[in-house]
Amino acid sequence: MTTNILENSDPATLLAWHVAMGADEAIKGETVDRFKSVPVQTSEQAPDQASAAAPQQRPTVAAHSSTPAPQAGHTGAGPRKVEARPVQAVIGAGQAAAENAAAACNSLDELEAALKAFDGGLLKRSAKNTVFADGTRGAPMMIVGEAPGAEEDRIGKPFVGASGQLLDRMLAAAGMSRDKNVYISNVVPWRPLGNRTPDQAVITMCLPFIKRHIELAEPKFVLMLGGVSAKALLNTEDGITRLRGRMKELDLGGRKIAAMPAYHPAYLLRQPHLKSFAWRDLLAVKRTLASL
Ligand code: URA
Repeated sequence: MTTNILENSDPATLLAWHVAMGADEAIKGETVDRFKSVPVQTSEQAPDQASAAAPQQRPTVAAHSSTPAPQAGHTGAGPRKVEARPVQAVIGAGQAAAENAAAACNSLDELEAALKAFDGGLLKRSAKNTVFADGTRGAPMMIVGEAPGAEEDRIGKPFVGASGQLLDRMLAAAGMSRDKNVYISNVVPWRPLGNRTPDQAVITMCLPFIKRHIELAEPKFVLMLGGVSAKALLNTEDGITRLRGRMKELDLGGRKIAAMPAYHPAYLLRQPHLKSFAWRDLLAVKRTLASL
């Protein structure tokens, strides 16, 4: 004969049985229908109602749980698809605003001020500095890297950490320097949290600024360091191994500028056997610069 423990036991025995079965949390006496439709916040809702429903100051949670408008034909009976809709506090003012802000600038100083005033979302708020540029304004060569690292963020200048020191040594070996004939910036002016590779949304937002930066700096030649820089400026999906060492052209503001992708010095620090390629590329840059 089998005994039904759920019917015949006292509460303490029942609880012990549930614990033995692996239950580790008391939830509720009644089941919850998690597929039942919940009240929907529509776009017509007054802004103050909307902000009461999803407080602005908690972007990471609110951003991904904001309730979308009902889908056409949805009856409210079954599960709904929920699309991620990040709020501006996370993503910043976006590409269109960046394009307008960058296009309105007519000098490097104006561009720097515009970048410092721009809403770069969580990326900018988590950074200590807007890292604009270093080196010689008006230099024939402009170097464009990826994004500041910890050291660059702390000091507020591009390429001042370990990879920057390697870059300076490489430039010196080729008879160049940021004090003399090189101007340096990055695609992204704010350090991504945790030194992560900037994601596509960040790159898309920052691209109008670096493009305008190149236009206003008017270099004869642009050296793109690393895949992020090369892919963003050349608008290609090709990787850096395929791109490096190949002469390209950037078409910016109606002007064609000679350009070349090369290995990023941070990559060379991890893969020192590739330094010979970087050296070869730098010599090709020097030859090209001499002919421009
Ligand atoms: N890496 C970059 O791409 N840029 C910097 O400024 C520093 C490290």
